[in-house]
This record gives sequence, C-alpha cells and structure tokens, in this order.
Amino acid sequence: LGPVQTNATTHNPNDLSMTLGATYSREIAASLARAWENVLDWEHLPHLHDSSFSSLTLEDAGDWGWRALTVGNPATKASKALIELVVDRKKNRYVSRTLRGGIAGMEIWTQFTKVDERRTQVDVEFHIPGMDQASALRLGEYMTGLYKTLWDEDEQMMVERQNALEQRLQTSSKKTINLGPAEELQKRLPLCLEIDGKPVKIIELNGQLTAFRPTCPHMLAPLNEVALDEKGCITCPWHGYKFDVTSGLSTDGHDLALDAAFDFSTNTEGNTLISVAKDATNLQQSQNSR
Ligand code: FES
Ligand SMILES: [Fe+2]
Repeated sequence: LGPVQTNATTHNPNDLSMTLGATYSREIAASLARAWENVLDWEHLPHLHDSSFSSLTLEDAGDWGWRALTVGNPATKASKALIELVVDRKKNRYVSRTLRGGIAGMEIWTQFTKVDERRTQVDVEFHIPGMDQASALRLGEYMTGLYKTLWDEDEQMMVERQNALEQRLQTSSKKTINLGPAEELQKRLPLCLEIDGKPVKIIELNGQLTAFRPTCPHMLAPLNEVALDEKGCITCPWHGYKFDVTSGLSTDGHDLALDAAFDFSTNTEGNTLISVAKDATNLQQSQNSR
C-alpha cells in the first residue's frame, strides 16, 4: 500500500479545473512537533472531533501520512469520503485530498511556519474542483468554519499534551497526603489533587474510596473532567480508549493502563491518608514509555 496521491508537492495532479474557495490562517499555541504529531494522528478524528466526524476506518498509514474512509456528523451517505493526507515534512506542509465521495478531488493545502518554540503559524488553502466561483466561495466559507472548530479542538489537545509532557518530568517527594476526617473528605469528593508532583483523582465508587491518575496513558490526555459510566469506566476524549478506574486496566483491548496504584489508610486521629503504593513509580514509568 502507501499513498495514492503523487505526493504533497504537486497541486492538482489530475489537472481538474480548480477554484480557490477560501484561505484560513491562524497562529496556534503549539510547537511544530506537536502540530505534526496531530496531523499524523488519524485516530483522534472521530473522538476529539466527534462533532465533525462520526467514524473513521483506516486503509493505510505511514511516515507519508494516512488514508481513511471517514463519515461526517451527521452520518449521511453524502458525508462518506475517502480522504488521503500526504505530508512533505521538509517543506512543512501537507495536502489532504478527497479521493472518493464527499467533494471528490478537493485539495486542502496546509503550510506550517514555526513562529517560536511554542507557536506555529498555520495557513490553509481550499481548492475545489469543477465549481463556479460563487459556489466555491460558499463552500469555502463552510470549510473555514469547519476548520476553525477543528483547529480550536486540536490546539487545546496540543497545549494540554505539551503541559502533560512537561509535568511528567516534575517529581516531588510527597508520596502520602493527609485527606482529613472521613466525613469531611466525603463532602469534598470527587477530589483532584497532586501526589508525587502529578494529579490524582479521588472518588467514591460503590461505597469505596478509589484513586487513579487522571492522565491517559496513551498520549497523556487529561481525564479529570471525564465522567464515569455505570461500570466505573472512563472513555478518553482524545482517541476513545476505555479504562476501568479501579483496576486501571484497559477495557477495550489496548495494552495500556491508568495508574491506579494508591493505598488508603486511617491514622490514629481518624484522618484518611492516601499514599502512592510501593512500586507505583516504576509501574507508571513503564506505562507511559510510549
Ligand atoms: S490520549 Fe489517546 S486515548 Fe487517551
Ligand atoms: Fe485534528
């Protein structure tokens, strides 16, 4: 397999009559590294961008980019499209082309320009085939609206991931925290605090105090705001991986686990203590090594 498109250097290789429907430019608060990671990350489309995509079936992916069958949201027949995204890393640009379905032949060119270590300029062009100027402009307006939403969602993910990567390097020796009297604690649940320099979320589940790191072991999405389902599981908003918060284990077959290695105890004054379970540091490091 591999890319069907020639590459990301040729505009309009099929020589269609193209109209530039719109351009869209913005600066994002993320490094080039985060931006490229996001472009190659096809898996986040139906999860992070669930208001725009309802599903995605991958055909192929590699260093060159990816090709996938996508279904929009709402999931209509017309919203089905085979999309291929091909990167030109050297020139910091990529093209995403609709190969079949949707607006077949449409090319979306994106150019990245590094502003500094934490900021990237994004310039997008929407080239639409076989359309008169007025219709192309209307479609262009729709596409820029869609892209604003997509880039808002992507930017937030990139910023949060960057923060999580930096936070991972922090360490602190505070491995036990006094949570105070049990009845006081109960009123404060669910509670998110820091142990060992990293967040931990404390909840009550089936009458039992439960604690886990609200950080996804896949790509470090923050999970503290994610609601538990009736089985005590959470679904990560970035790529949809599911975890049981009590055991930390994946419930959808991924070889990853949440760090849930905490012990609760009661001291002589009747205060509840939470501590990092022994070996937890090693466990967490191996989980996050991807
Ligand atoms: S970061 Fe990918 S599933 Fe959570
Ligand atoms: Fe995205």
